[in-house]
Amino acid sequence: MNLVMIGTGYVGLTTGVGFATLGHQVVCVDIDAAKIARLDLGEVPFYEPGLQEALTHVQEKGRILFTTDLKSVIGGAEVIMIAVGTPPKSTGEADLTALFAVADQIGSLLDHEVVIAVKSTVPVGTNRKVIAHIREAMEKAQRAELTSLINIVSVPEFLREGSAFEDFLQPDRLVIGSDDKLAGQTVERLHKEMMAPRVMTTLESAELIKYAANAFLATKISFINEIANLADRVGADVRHVAEGIGHDHRIGPHFLKAGVGYGGSCFPKDVSALEQISGANGYSFKLLSAVIEVNNRQREMFFKRMMEKLGGVKGRRVAVWGLAFKAHTDDIRESAGIEIAQRLLAAGADLVVYDPQAMDNAKAVLSHHVEFAVTAMDAATGADVLVVLTEWPEFREVSFSTLHDRMIEPTIFDGRNHLADLNLQSQGFVYHGVGLGTYDAA
Ligand code: UDX
Repeated sequence: MNLVMIGTGYVGLTTGVGFATLGHQVVCVDIDAAKIARLDLGEVPFYEPGLQEALTHVQEKGRILFTTDLKSVIGGAEVIMIAVGTPPKSTGEADLTALFAVADQIGSLLDHEVVIAVKSTVPVGTNRKVIAHIREAMEKAQRAELTSLINIVSVPEFLREGSAFEDFLQPDRLVIGSDDKLAGQTVERLHKEMMAPRVMTTLESAELIKYAANAFLATKISFINEIANLADRVGADVRHVAEGIGHDHRIGPHFLKAGVGYGGSCFPKDVSALEQISGANGYSFKLLSAVIEVNNRQREMFFKRMMEKLGGVKGRRVAVWGLAFKAHTDDIRESAGIEIAQRLLAAGADLVVYDPQAMDNAKAVLSHHVEFAVTAMDAATGADVLVVLTEWPEFREVSFSTLHDRMIEPTIFDGRNHLADLNLQSQGFVYHGVGLGTYDAA
């Protein structure tokens, strides 16, 4: 099928390249001319495992094009998919400016029957507003007679950064929300190569499924972090508690890793948006408020405990391993690593940082007082303390005997329990994890 994908961020580009990989003819549109120029040259402008190879492949096959000019390509579209950003406002409410601007632009150009598929994460009820914007723009363009041919479908994404391309090709489920049966079937046809179960539902249900999924996952994380904080105080090990409950098929083993909490461009935004949507619809979603509070407090507690144990870091060389909000991405949005690095700086630390992928993004936000090391071991050399904040596999592969020799004080604070099973105490390290039962109540 002929697909026009509007928005080339990690969702739009991954999804566009994904559909081209499945054999569809895809045109990706973005207003960012520099980004489109790089994509046209075959360069993925961010780190996402597998995406670069896939883009090269589909470009060689001539199945994907990139342009800033929607007008020149909209005529050939059977489906127009919208994947523009809906970032949070200061109130936590989603900012739909870009979305409605795209809707108005589509409406001003549309002259044939087409299905509009909204991939962006949007507050419940937004799809109806998008189609209203499109139809209104069509009427202004003297095409009122065609407005009944245009339908909208909500197709939320469940892509995880760092495995987004794999998640696209092998989704756990497809959620397709629409009022028009034929439109829903058209979007289902676009996904015909995917064997995942279909949830064919209404627009509002599809919109709410997206928020409910992320909010539930965030709830699982805040729950295990609360258990970790209690485990520290009763001498239990949260990893064993997570394993012990995770074998229950009703709970499952995933998203039960305790640490400094969740970050990224989705969980913080979507949980706050759902809280805001609830309030705007007259409902106080108490659980969500607690999930957010627990997550914010988790970073604070980790930092305070570190300050207590170290007696402050003023003038001390502190190494941070990990700035991306999680491993296998270069994304630092709402990253615990960045937030704790900034707290350490503010506390007077002589800070040296390292991340395998996120250094360029980190340089844009961390002050110039920070030293950016070339390797993990360089960062730790001469350090009084090492703080691990992102679970990159390479941090487990260093020579810990060399690390011990290179550090002034072999003390490690591990915000992801990433090294917890390596028994570093036996190699002479002072090791502090999260929820491992070694909490000093003092
Ligand atoms: C998430 C959802 O998983 C995905 O379905 C949705 O489409 C977008 O948001 P993403 O934010 O890319 O994906 O990453 P995810 O792997 O979900 O991790 C989110 C955050 O939770 C990260 O900061 C991660 O470190 C943290 N996390 C995850 C934990 O603290 N503990 C866990 O057990 C799992």
